[in-house]
Amino acid sequence: MSKRLSKTQDNAVYAGVWLACFAPLAWLAWRGFSGDLGANPIETLIRQLGVWGLRLLLVGLVITPAARILRKPRLVRFRRTIGLFAFAYVTLHLFSYIGIDLFFDFGQLWKDILKRPFITLGMLAFVLLIPLAVTSTNGWVIRMGRAAWQRLHWLIYLIVPLGVAHYYLLVKADHRPPLVYGAVFLALMGWRVWELRKRAQQTPA
Ligand code: HEM
Repeated sequence: MSKRLSKTQDNAVYAGVWLACFAPLAWLAWRGFSGDLGANPIETLIRQLGVWGLRLLLVGLVITPAARILRKPRLVRFRRTIGLFAFAYVTLHLFSYIGIDLFFDFGQLWKDILKRPFITLGMLAFVLLIPLAVTSTNGWVIRMGRAAWQRLHWLIYLIVPLGVAHYYLLVKADHRPPLVYGAVFLALMGWRVWELRKRAQQTPA
């Protein structure tokens, strides 16, 4: 009975995480359909999708420290869902830009990639995300071997700062928001370094 209860609780928590990741998209779609995206709806849409992509990438990075600090190792099972949602937001961000802003003018996209540094960095971050999304299944973990799979996923430590730099370069006036995301990333990196050192000290030579 208690096992069944914990399975039900488990599913409820999982559904909560899924809903929390999906809610910004649903809210954005609702605002879009009710004509509530402001004076420049296309810009709002692209920006909101981008910022939620970045937030979820950071939430994905928070999971491991949170699991260790709170002593809740099972939290790590949400990393994949959160990561895939981040990928979905960034993909929609890119597709909105290509489809709604550029009207599928791929020549213009190529020019933007070459001439606008913030697009260059965003595109690089997106391309690096693809192998992580593709290899997110258990089948790929087995096929690659856990160590190689984990090494591939270190790409996230490049993708997030690229996303932050992309954000920093595109804002014209107030640089505080991208700097805050950058600071969160640096704090998380600080924790990782501290933890690796601690583990190295604990391991007998
Ligand atoms: C991991 C990949 C990416 C992340 C995390 C990301 C994130 C962001 C963020 C946070 C913003 C600013 C949102 C705001 O102002 O509130 C933004 C804006 C934008 N991004 Fe991305 N982005 C990524 C990839 C891309 C790619 C691949 C493209 C296009 C090739 C792109 C094009 C744009 C454009 C056009 C804007 C709006 C610029 C403006 O309104 O002036 N992004 N992105």
